[in-house]
Amino acid sequence: MDNTIVDIYFFTGTGNTFLAASKIAQILESKNYKVSVSDIAKSEAASINLSHIIGIGFPIAFWNTFPIVKNFINTLPNTENATKVFIFTTMGDSSLNAASNFGHVLKNKGYKLIGASSFLMPNNFIAVQKESKNIEKREKAYKQLQTFAKSLTDTDIKPVKTNSFFKLCFVITNFITDRWKGKLFQKIVKFKIQKKKCIKCGFCAKICPAKNIDFNGTYPTFKARNCQICMRCISYCPQKAIKSVLIRKTYQALNKQEQEKCFF
Ligand SMILES: Cc1cc2nc3c(=O)[nH]c(=O)nc-3n(C[C@H](O)[C@H](O)[C@H](O)COP(=O)(O)O)c2cc1C
Ligand code: SF4
Ligand code: SF4
Repeated sequence: MDNTIVDIYFFTGTGNTFLAASKIAQILESKNYKVSVSDIAKSEAASINLSHIIGIGFPIAFWNTFPIVKNFINTLPNTENATKVFIFTTMGDSSLNAASNFGHVLKNKGYKLIGASSFLMPNNFIAVQKESKNIEKREKAYKQLQTFAKSLTDTDIKPVKTNSFFKLCFVITNFITDRWKGKLFQKIVKFKIQKKKCIKCGFCAKICPAKNIDFNGTYPTFKARNCQICMRCISYCPQKAIKSVLIRKTYQALNKQEQEKCFF
């Protein structure tokens, strides 16, 4: 076990979790840890290095998370070395203790859970707030992330707790989010391209983490089956040409430079 190397795996739709992962990496690097940060959408759970410390970060969706993240966590290999793991999630308002509950899934695979926490960040879905409020929320989260990252380096690790109520909530939210592929969620959100606005740039297809958008030079089309409803395409379309009956306002956490780092 190499206690100085940390591999962080993150998933992000609109960028909050990427910023959270970068903040944690920055703090750990300042404490002389060697840190890598990788996108879950481009990583193989089976190939993680069990001799490193593993960090997993993702957004909360329906008090749980997206299928792509669940699949990553569920297919992580069992470990006999008590591989250290920590979980961080970003949320718009509440998570029903999902970080700890996912942590306990990994404990059952033999991992040693050294931290699990959820961080309040701007909401990127339906209840999007004003940018001034979003900046305030991100600043507050950065301070909490700093404390969290420092706590990971403590020799005296406090146990991560959950309780029967949150465990029951986890069973229910798992039941619901496991049906994602049944297209129910996609039918509700239903993305539509506004052809008058679309300039056929293909950016939405390039950045979709689930390869759910077909683009061959004409208007993009959604396959629906793989859609995570991560909000990335609708939020970062340069023309705001993607619409949904549910979404009135979109949210972007990343500037152009950060988008380059995060998406490509
Ligand atoms: C489909 C969907 C469902 C969501 N459900 C929840 C939720 O149950 N609880 C919550 O606090 N935030 C929820 N959110 C908000 C996100 O968790 C939050 O904005 C997060 O920080 C986004 O992270 P990202 O920018 O890395 O994608 C949801 C967002 C989406 C897109
Ligand atoms: S990113 Fe927007 S403008 Fe570009 S192809 Fe997609 S929908 Fe059209
Ligand atoms: S189609 Fe849009 S919302 Fe769905 S996974 Fe791709 S980027 Fe995310």
